[in-house]
Amino acid sequence: MIQSECLLLRGLLGFICLLIMCMSAAPDLCVPLKTVRESLNLSQRRRFMKMNFPINYTIQVYYEEVFRLRNISRLNMSNEEEPVLKRDLQELWLLVSQRGIKRVLRVLPERHPTRQKYLSNLENLFRNFEAVYAQQNPTDEEREPPEKIRNISERLNDPTYEGWKSVTPKSLLDNCYRTMLCLFKECFSKEDDSYDYCEVNWRKGNKTT
Ligand SMILES: *[C@@H]1O[C@H](CO)[C@@H](O)[C@H](O)[C@H]1NC(C)=O
Ligand SMILES: *[C@@H]1O[C@H](CO)[C@@H](O)[C@H](O)[C@H]1NC(C)=O
Ligand SMILES: *[C@@H]1O[C@H](CO)[C@@H](O)[C@H](O)[C@H]1NC(C)=O
Ligand SMILES: *[C@@H]1O[C@H](CO)[C@@H](O)[C@H](O)[C@H]1NC(C)=O
Ligand SMILES: *[C@@H]1O[C@H](CO)[C@@H](O)[C@H](O)[C@H]1NC(C)=O
Repeated sequence: MIQSECLLLRGLLGFICLLIMCMSAAPDLCVPLKTVRESLNLSQRRRFMKMNFPINYTIQVYYEEVFRLRNISRLNMSNEEEPVLKRDLQELWLLVSQRGIKRVLRVLPERHPTRQKYLSNLENLFRNFEAVYAQQNPTDEEREPPEKIRNISERLNDPTYEGWKSVTPKSLLDNCYRTMLCLFKECFSKEDDSYDYCEVNWRKGNKTT
């Protein structure tokens, strides 16, 4: 009797070990995200999003397509009834970033170097990341995102919406970069690094340019 219980326990332990191994074999979110970060580094953003455009060139985007650190702190402010989860913010970041890239692509001629040498590739890097992200964060059918977030998605998806704002192409990716460092801190901060990537006054530290 005791022996069979022992066997059962061993079997259970083996199963748990296997489960842990399987879980750690899931693709690491940080790998595709680091590739995105590399592509978004300052010299690339300057070259492809600023120098390749006429001086002071702007494009029209929806208000909600401007997503900055300030938006994150505002959205993250505590709301007992409908807390905004990190996941909601990450998904919003992913959506808005891809929309921003599309906005810029839409104004670029087929053979523009920013399209061919940069944005097409960046768009793919985002798709790769999105696939891994979706795999690791399967949709929770039970949970509806908070109303604040739903309202933003609604406006983003409303083709009749008239809230337009002029922005430079580079500013879209600058914001995308900074908010990425904040929302995916775990992928970017080193152990000895106490810098808060969500700090709105990022200019004070020079780390997140
Ligand atoms: C930015 O990325 C490009 C291409 O990956 C690389 O050649 C360049 O050295 C990087 N610049 C900085 C400042 O890291
Ligand atoms: C670009 O914008 C800056 C600041 O708004 C302004 O000082 C400058 O004259 C503009 N340059 C051109 C070429 O329009
Ligand atoms: C970010 O804040 C600005 C106002 O500061 C607002 O117009 C915009 O819609 C916000 N973006 C998002 C994604 O909520
Ligand atoms: C959101 O707020 C919580 C608690 O107030 C904090 O722990 C978390 O770091 C914040 N997240 C972001 C992305 O600012
Ligand atoms: C969301 O939008 C609805 C209708 O436009 C509005 O009544 C509501 O106050 C908004 N909710 C939040 C949390 O912004």
